[in-house]
Amino acid sequence: MHATAWWQRGIIYEIYPRSFQDSNGDGIGDLNGILLRLDYLVKLGVDALWITPFYPSPMADFGYDVSDYCGIDPLFGTMHDFDQLLRGTHNRGLKLILDLVPNHTSDQHPWFLESRSSRENSKRDWYLWRDEPNNWQSNFGGPAWEWDDITGQYYYHSFLKQQPDLNWRNPLVRRAIFEAMRFWLERGVDGFRVDVIWLMIKDDQFRDNPPNPAYRSGQPSSHRFLPVFNSNRPQVHEVVSEMRAVIDDYKDRVLIGEIYLPIPQLMTYYGKDLDGTQLPFNFQLLQTAWTADALARAISEYDNALPTGAWPNWVLGNHDNARIATRVGTHQAKLAAMLLLSLPGTITLYYGEEIGMTNVSIPPELVQDPAEKNEPGIGLGRDPERTPMPWDSSPLAGFTTGRPWLPLGEDHASLNVANLDQDTESILHLYGTLIALRRSHPVLVTGELRSIAAANTVLSYERLGEGGRLLILLNLGDVPVSVPSVAGEILVATSQYCLSKQPNGLTQLGAATGLIVRLPASG
Ligand code: NOJ
Ligand code: CA
Repeated sequence: MHATAWWQRGIIYEIYPRSFQDSNGDGIGDLNGILLRLDYLVKLGVDALWITPFYPSPMADFGYDVSDYCGIDPLFGTMHDFDQLLRGTHNRGLKLILDLVPNHTSDQHPWFLESRSSRENSKRDWYLWRDEPNNWQSNFGGPAWEWDDITGQYYYHSFLKQQPDLNWRNPLVRRAIFEAMRFWLERGVDGFRVDVIWLMIKDDQFRDNPPNPAYRSGQPSSHRFLPVFNSNRPQVHEVVSEMRAVIDDYKDRVLIGEIYLPIPQLMTYYGKDLDGTQLPFNFQLLQTAWTADALARAISEYDNALPTGAWPNWVLGNHDNARIATRVGTHQAKLAAMLLLSLPGTITLYYGEEIGMTNVSIPPELVQDPAEKNEPGIGLGRDPERTPMPWDSSPLAGFTTGRPWLPLGEDHASLNVANLDQDTESILHLYGTLIALRRSHPVLVTGELRSIAAANTVLSYERLGEGGRLLILLNLGDVPVSVPSVAGEILVATSQYCLSKQPNGLTQLGAATGLIVRLPASG
């Protein structure tokens, strides 16, 4: 493979630590639990872990409300446990990426306690205080401005009122967060996934957002206005490039940005002269309709929009969105895996995707997520995609010996790692095979994407470059379709029954099945 950095050729595996592995029987996953499962991740073939926040936190938003950027919440372990995990990760040749949450802190963070204590406090300007609110809405429902009696002003929160937004126009805020980044970089972490990076700078005049003409009642209240003045402001790129400069002071680290924006705006987060995030998360596959046509369009649009030298990346799921097997159907999960792992660049997996985990429906009395509690019943809750990883067929699935903080899926006795590991036709084996194929066939990582096409329900594309030319054929439909006979060697199929010859001489590609074929060099 030509010279690529680890974060370019590697596969990143996202761990939601509460749900991966509990080591002390309190029903909540922890750092020592992750350590216990590292060999599983090595066997799966991934290269890096991204662990969502484990910093000290009141857990109003399950760790995305940080009260100390340089510590470990006792629920997840100690700094010693963290160092052990980092060592265990590196000893196995894996990288470790942390979640950085710079847009907001917890309202219990000492900075905010100071800031709210008086208008004269030296940290007053570290947050956004106003005499009058404007019409900006919280992403978790309701107005984004909270009245604070202590000093008689409103403060701004993009998310919960327990998550006040930092003022990123203040150089001291920048310096403080950059110091926290250095704290972890010095310790040896390999990079950061930056939470809501596109929200970090707000309009300096706090202008009202325009109404959203497409808003309908029943939709989340944050959709009432178009987020023109409180998101994706031009000055954000200055902050992103400053963060990147911090990363670049260290060898071989990565900056990943969480960004939900249309493709043209997303691309600006690579930065001027690529001085922004190395990987602005690409959520196309989470948001595109599951049809050959729509996917072909989204993949081409993304690929064509990449700035020169920018490195692509692809994602099927994360802790904020419905699991792929639920969104597109369990029968499509293997096909989705083949799609994801045959696209160019860096791939990020969400824990459990490799075993085809589905959303777990959560009865109202067990709901944990504030997004669901604040605006119930309209599908905003994220608990269903955050349930414990089922490791084996024992009653608590090997996840805990206590009471799991969220229920296990009803299918955990059959759908679990140990079971699927026994079955060579399982989705888990397919993930392993596809990951290994990316390693043995660098063209899948670095090769060009060519001939993207949708014919009926079949999505097809070629990968061309180092070491050959591959054809990927994916039938997204629920019935078999005729395909031209494929002249080449089948490297991987989602099922051994993918292709069948028909009496009329045609070849059929089975419902929801796919193939990766090596084409003859000149063909
Ligand atoms: C994005 C995170 O992924 C999500 O889980 C969190 O609730 C919000 N940012 C607020 O930090
Ligand atoms: Ca625990």
